[in-house]
Amino acid sequence: MRQINSLILLICLALSTSLVAEDYLYDDGKVIYNATCVSCHGTQGDTNDAIMLIVKPRKLTQTILTEAQSFQIIKEGAHHWGAHADMMPTFKYIYKDDEIEGIAHYVSKAFNPNGEARVEKLLKESKPIAKADEHKMLKTGEKIFKRNCSMCHGVTGNGKSEYVEMSKAEDSFMYPYNLQRTLLSQDQIFLYAKFGGKFWGTMEDHMPSWKKKYNDFELKSVAKYVNEKIKKIK
Ligand code: HEC
Ligand code: HEC
Repeated sequence: MRQINSLILLICLALSTSLVAEDYLYDDGKVIYNATCVSCHGTQGDTNDAIMLIVKPRKLTQTILTEAQSFQIIKEGAHHWGAHADMMPTFKYIYKDDEIEGIAHYVSKAFNPNGEARVEKLLKESKPIAKADEHKMLKTGEKIFKRNCSMCHGVTGNGKSEYVEMSKAEDSFMYPYNLQRTLLSQDQIFLYAKFGGKFWGTMEDHMPSWKKKYNDFELKSVAKYVNEKIKKIK
């Protein structure tokens, strides 16, 4: 009995220290966020839209990213993960990994606490792929990618195309991501394409929602194609 009691005590202790550690992470992250990120992303993570940048900061309240992916973006900068503009800086030379963990934890918990549940729900509501159709996916995906996505993302997915060059000439800057470097998973690529950039926190409406033009099978196919044939970082 005595042994059991001390075991329980130990478990309680372990739990309470991990809770305290978690709080420190959040608090430390908050301090850095308020010192470093607010000017672009706003105090509530909903972005300062008055800011004059060629690519506006994202609303962190609507991001599709998990906490672990946010860590990667903050650490390496968005450019490393396929953004063409270099507006979202690389922080790995300024902060240590454990500090960046705190920042990622703070932005996820404070601004987007239901983000992962939102992603799960949308996936669950989408139409599942029938076993018999699986073999058609890569071909269908390739066709759609070459017909539509390549107009902006380029046939190789590197984010360069004539259309993009034209948009620069017209001063309506547009920066499709280099999908060879995207850190999004196949499911996330599907949801990003289905609902478009604005739904996931961009200020401008440059990456359209494709849900009126293509059904879930077609969009899951194009996501599979991007994930397996375009993406180079796995
Ligand atoms: C100079 C302005 C600026 C600063 C400072 C800045 N960001 Fe960003 N951030 C951006 C822009 C612009 C983007 C969108 C990048 C793109 O699409 O090219 C972005 C994107 C992001 C994303 C990706 C969101 C998504 O859904 O893809 C995260 C996460 C993020 N920023 C977090 C932070 C954190 C945390 C800090 C502070 C440590 C910070 N940013 C500082 C401008 C900034
Ligand atoms: C009219 C131009 C345009 C077309 C067409 C287009 N995109 Fe995009 N895409 C963009 C831009 C610009 C971005 C950068 C982020 C934003 O504005 O949402 C982007 C971002 C993305 C991202 C997010 C990448 C990341 O790492 O965050 C994915 C995934 C994506 N596009 C997939 C597709 C797919 C699949 C298609 C075809 C069905 C497609 N896009 C067609 C312009 C376009």
